[in-house]
Amino acid sequence: MSKVTVVGAGKYGSTTVQRLAEADMVDEVVMVDIVEGLPQGLALDMNESRPVLGYRTLVTGTNDYADTADSDVVVITAGLPRKPGMSRMDLLEVNAKIVKGVAQEIAKYSPDCVIIVVTNPLDQMTTLVAEVTGFPKERVMGQAGMLDSARLTHFISEKSGVDVLKIKAVTLGSHGPTMVPVPSLCDVDGKSLDEVFDAETIEELLDRTRGGGAEIVALLKTGSAYYAPSAAAAAMVEAVIKDTGAEMPVCAWMTGQYGIDDVYLGVLAKLGAGGVQEVHEVALTDTEVAGLREAAVAVKAKVADLAEIDY
Ligand code: NAI
Ligand code: 2OP
Repeated sequence: MSKVTVVGAGKYGSTTVQRLAEADMVDEVVMVDIVEGLPQGLALDMNESRPVLGYRTLVTGTNDYADTADSDVVVITAGLPRKPGMSRMDLLEVNAKIVKGVAQEIAKYSPDCVIIVVTNPLDQMTTLVAEVTGFPKERVMGQAGMLDSARLTHFISEKSGVDVLKIKAVTLGSHGPTMVPVPSLCDVDGKSLDEVFDAETIEELLDRTRGGGAEIVALLKTGSAYYAPSAAAAAMVEAVIKDTGAEMPVCAWMTGQYGIDDVYLGVLAKLGAGGVQEVHEVALTDTEVAGLREAAVAVKAKVADLAEIDY
């Protein structure tokens, strides 16, 4: 019996549950939230779509972590978005408190699970979950690179007119300003990025990708993106549940690759049973490696902020 828990029944959490259920890849998906009735109502609604869409996965909505017991994979989406008047440190403190409580419950009820963190600020929250649970680092990872790479792929397709499914693009590093888009790993239907675009256009595409989350927040006015983010998290869950060994850009613990260690950073990794099976150190240009090292320094500085707050 395979079981996935998604913590948080907001936009990101509920769309992730829907994607997982409709993919029919596990027996049960549990959705847990602190708001009474919300996960239960959404679960009932999703379960009623099963006969129409033709899948069997059952969704359980709950406010009780006992229902999450013995999950194989847990996705943590619980947390607040930044609100007007809130500083970055205020948000860090609020979400650190929420995610710490969630991590303790998950470790208690599913001590052998793989955890995929998505709550922002992503690098700090992934580090915090690893520390609070005490899980081996390969069983805790963060989602950002799958989303950012998908955004870059879409932008390249939109600008070039090339079929989106014939493009491969990769972003590494952190989620936000220290994101490291990797032009040398881009493949646009067999061509390199600089065969398709001039340098100025490439820089525009990379900048748009770095600001991809903010672009959607500005359009929505309230809340942030969730369709592409939930697709990214669901793909990671699938790789772990089905033990595919698929290579994906994920926020993983570094142990010396590219000369970087002791930090969670966006890199290409092989995902399967047990979580991150291997971090792949792929050939990058000197500039790209320097970008990764800068991102690692920035993430370490952000993680140090955690020591300054009471959570
Ligand atoms: P949302 O506001 O729609 O949902 C958050 C949910 O968390 C709410 O239903 C709330 O009741 C729940 N919650 C709060 N405290 C909880 C607790 N202690 N236990 C269980 N549930 C709790 O927000 P949305 O859009 O779902 O985003 C969730 C998080 O994901 C945010 O931090 C957002 O910034 C982040 N995010 C990360 C991305 C990434 O690429 N890593 C991309 C998009 C969003
Ligand atoms: C995003 O990139 C806000 O992290 C969120 O859409």
